[in-house]
Amino acid sequence: MRPAAPLRLLLSSLCLALCCPGGARGSRGSDNHEWKKLIMVHHWPVTVCKEVENDCRDPPDYWTIHGLWPDKAEECNGSWHFHLEEIKDLMPEMKMYWPDVIHPLNHSHFWKHEWEKHGTCAAQLDALNSQKKYFGGSLDLYRDLDLNSMLQKLGIKPSINYYQVSDIKDALAGIYGVIPKIQCLPPQQGEEVQTIGQIELCFTKELRLRNCTEPGEPGGPGGPAPRGPRAGVSGGTGLEVCEDGPAFYPPPPGAVP
Ligand SMILES: *[C@@H]1O[C@H](CO)[C@@H](O)[C@H](O)[C@H]1NC(C)=O
Ligand SMILES: *[C@@H]1O[C@H](CO)[C@@H](O)[C@H](O)[C@H]1NC(C)=O
Ligand SMILES: *[C@@H]1O[C@H](CO)[C@@H](O)[C@H](O)[C@H]1NC(C)=O
Repeated sequence: MRPAAPLRLLLSSLCLALCCPGGARGSRGSDNHEWKKLIMVHHWPVTVCKEVENDCRDPPDYWTIHGLWPDKAEECNGSWHFHLEEIKDLMPEMKMYWPDVIHPLNHSHFWKHEWEKHGTCAAQLDALNSQKKYFGGSLDLYRDLDLNSMLQKLGIKPSINYYQVSDIKDALAGIYGVIPKIQCLPPQQGEEVQTIGQIELCFTKELRLRNCTEPGEPGGPGGPAPRGPRAGVSGGTGLEVCEDGPAFYPPPPGAVP
C-alpha cells in the first residue's frame, strides 16, 4: 500500500484537531519540568494482563491507550487535581479506548494517575492545557494514528507464529514516516521469546509526528537499549525496548489464531 495518503490525512487531521493557534507555548518556569516530545503510548491488553499476572477477563482485542507522556517530565503540578466531571463528555470513548485494562470496573483511578503524572506536564501546551483538552486531545491522536487499522492493513496480527521486531518497526515507519518505539516483556521462565507489549509514536510540541529516538539517544540507532518507562498504576514494571529478533504478539485468550 502507499503510505503517502494516510500520512497526509493523518497530519492534516492532527493539525485541525490540535495544533493550529499557537500550539506550543514552550516550557516555562522550573527547569526540571522541561520536555521535548510527547509519546503516544499504545499497549496491547493481552500483554498488560500477562505482565501483572492478572487474570483479566476478556481484555480488549485491540490496542488501547496507555497514556500521552511528555518525555523527561512527570508530576508537574501537584495542586492540579483530577476531576472526573471534567471529562464526562468523553466517557464512552475513554472507556472504549483508554480503559484500565487491569481494573475494568473502575477506570478513574488510572485516569487520575495519568493526569497527575503526565497530563499536568503535557498541559504546558495550550492545546492540552485542561483535563478535557488533554484527554480529548489524546483520544484525537489515537484515532488519527489508527494503529489498529494500520497493523491490520500491514497483515500484522496476533499469532502463534513469531514476528521479527525489525519487520514491525519498518512496516510502521513506512506508514507513519517516523520511527516508532516498540516495547516487549522479556522472555519469562519457559518462554522462547519476548512478548510485544507497547507501541509508541512520538510527537513534537507542535503535535507533529517525529521519530521517537535520535541517533545516539538511548534506545535509538547506535544507543544502548534502556529499560522502558515505568508503567505505573495500570501496568507492571517489566517492559523494555524490544531486542532485535523474534517476538510473540499474543492472541487474546480463547481466540483462534
Ligand atoms: C497548577 O494548577 C493550579 C490549579 O489548576 C493552577 O492554579 C496553577 O496556576 C498551576 N501552577 C502552575 C505552575 O502551572
Ligand atoms: C473509583 O476510583 C476513584 C479513584 O480512586 C474513587 O474516587 C471512586 O470512588 C471509585 N469508584 C467506584 C465506583 O469504586
Ligand atoms: C528519523 O529516523 C530516520 C532513520 O534513522 C532518519 O533517516 C530520519 O532522518 C529521521 N528523521 C528526523 C526528522 O530526524
